[in-house]
Amino acid sequence: MGEAVAAAEDTLKRGAVVVPAPQPSKGVASWAVDLLERLAVRLGHDKAKPLHWLSGNFAPVRDETPPAAGLPVRGHLPECLNGEFVRVGPNPKFVPVAGYHWFDGDGMIHAMRIKDGRATYVSRYVKTSRLKQEEYFGGAKFMKIGDLKGFFGLFMVQMQALRKKLKILDVTYGFGTANTALIYHHGKLMALSEADKPYVVKVLEDGDLQTLGLLDYDKRLKHSFTAHPKVDPFTDEMFTFGYSHEPPYCTYRVITKDGVMLDPVPITIPESVMMHDFAITENYSIFMDLPLLFRPKEMVKNGEFIYKFDPTKKARFGILQRYEKDEKTIRWFELPNCFIFHNANAWEEGDEVVLITCRLENPDLDKVNGTQNDKLENFGNELYIHLRPQPLFYFYGTQCLV
Ligand SMILES: [Fe+2]
Repeated sequence: MGEAVAAAEDTLKRGAVVVPAPQPSKGVASWAVDLLERLAVRLGHDKAKPLHWLSGNFAPVRDETPPAAGLPVRGHLPECLNGEFVRVGPNPKFVPVAGYHWFDGDGMIHAMRIKDGRATYVSRYVKTSRLKQEEYFGGAKFMKIGDLKGFFGLFMVQMQALRKKLKILDVTYGFGTANTALIYHHGKLMALSEADKPYVVKVLEDGDLQTLGLLDYDKRLKHSFTAHPKVDPFTDEMFTFGYSHEPPYCTYRVITKDGVMLDPVPITIPESVMMHDFAITENYSIFMDLPLLFRPKEMVKNGEFIYKFDPTKKARFGILQRYEKDEKTIRWFELPNCFIFHNANAWEEGDEVVLITCRLENPDLDKVNGTQNDKLENFGNELYIHLRPQPLFYFYGTQCLV
């Protein structure tokens, strides 16, 4: 009996979330740093450059929409259709002090509740620690990806470090935006951004959305968490990873159907890269070591964006048995140079692992930095990886970003 109670308590504990309670502070220090930042923006930021990701179809939706019930329905909603369609995307609540990247906005969930033949619309921000603090200040305070270019980028990094050191901003609960994707696992709807832990969002009976807090898997999650984990529909397990700027640069995790995060598996790659997505098959997990490199020194030295694509380096795919406890058996396959944000699907065909992906040649994140209006070329490729005897490669897919 005691064991059963302990097991039940353990299950409840695993379901618990951490409610962010950041402690930012206003005062003379905050005012002084703001003043210094304004001066730097005036000297170092070109306001003449348009911010495309804040205009037209991408213009922010400033206000949340409480549940708007009884929407007009064209046609007929079957009464058996009962649920909520949700999507998340970046929607900056506050005007940026300088640059803005598509990836910078606060996560806002738009949702359509359908029940009893009626439709209700709602939109709510994910109440991240970052958003709570900017609401406290009434303005943008956190560093933006869109500012990470050239010497000005270095300065803005230092501004964030200074605000952290002076306890103006509190990064105890991270500073992610929860703006990239949603996933449902172990009874929880999660809003994700790859630089942070998952935020758990509750769908209320009337369709409204309530941010419950961060999920750290009983303190077992200590690194970032991709926005594109994979749930196996047959086993109900979730597979995920996080990447960082420190060796081993990538960490792989398996989360059981009961919501237990297993031990970390380091995935060691030569240097820090942007790793946005991965893939699973019935027996394997597939990691992408692609040459979109984290290059802070070149950012300052050459006035470039902090992530720099190197067209001279090979793309590599690492294939690991899904439940390996370490990376000893990972097999890396080299491919022609490219970058990939998203994979569409992966499966096994005998000895082959097939990955359908969205491949980019020579990507430039600065082109989606809101300062240029270049057209990104569409192209398609299909990738086959033969695990035995020799790797063979084909490509098929389409250009795709977020
Ligand atoms: Fe994405």
